[in-house]
Amino acid sequence: MNVLGINGSPRIGGNTDILLDRVLEGAARQGGNTEKVILNDLKFCPCQECEDIIRDSVCIIDDDWHQVYKRIKNADAIILASPIFFGSISAQSKMMIDRFQCVWRAKYMLKKDIFNRRKKGGFISVQASARKDFFDNAKSIVKNFFAVINVDYKEELFCPGIEEKADILRYPDILKKAFELGQRITSV
Ligand SMILES: Cc1cc2nc3c(=O)[nH]c(=O)nc-3n(C[C@H](O)[C@H](O)[C@H](O)COP(=O)(O)O)c2cc1C
Repeated sequence: MNVLGINGSPRIGGNTDILLDRVLEGAARQGGNTEKVILNDLKFCPCQECEDIIRDSVCIIDDDWHQVYKRIKNADAIILASPIFFGSISAQSKMMIDRFQCVWRAKYMLKKDIFNRRKKGGFISVQASARKDFFDNAKSIVKNFFAVINVDYKEELFCPGIEEKADILRYPDILKKAFELGQRITSV
């Protein structure tokens, strides 16, 4: 099983990055082929609402976003990991998601299901505060995204009260949960 981790945090070695690594370690232990994409390392622009995608059903902007698109297409399971920024997912994560508007149009307007093979999905997130509504906001965006690309929302891990870089290392119980999430999502 190909398990793709998508890191939407700009802070490498930060909480999201550490948690995602732990998920992928769990997936690898279960026999999965794992890969991690760091959105902040890629050069891609936000959706431009190009008219042409209505005809083509493929994003016509030529940038690094297509690397994510290809990897998602080849994956059997996807873990999206994002910190909470201003009450929702990070800008990097949202920009990546918005570019899938071409797939949304293909699916719902042209009736072409490009992502016709179902996949499993998980969402992990960290934030400094204890606010549940922020995780709910983020989750609703991710669930909407997963529905468009035919990913079944199977797993989630939300970690409140985590602020400084690598704070998450002080919580072995959460790291264990991340590892186990990776194992579960890789099991048939
Ligand atoms: C731009 C920005 C916005 C943030 N907004 C929120 C927020 O709305 N609510 C919250 O609880 N934490 C917020 N935080 C704190 C981060 O969610 C927190 O520090 C998290 O652990 C960062 O994860 P990372 O190390 O993976 O980047 C914000 C941090 C930044 C940099």
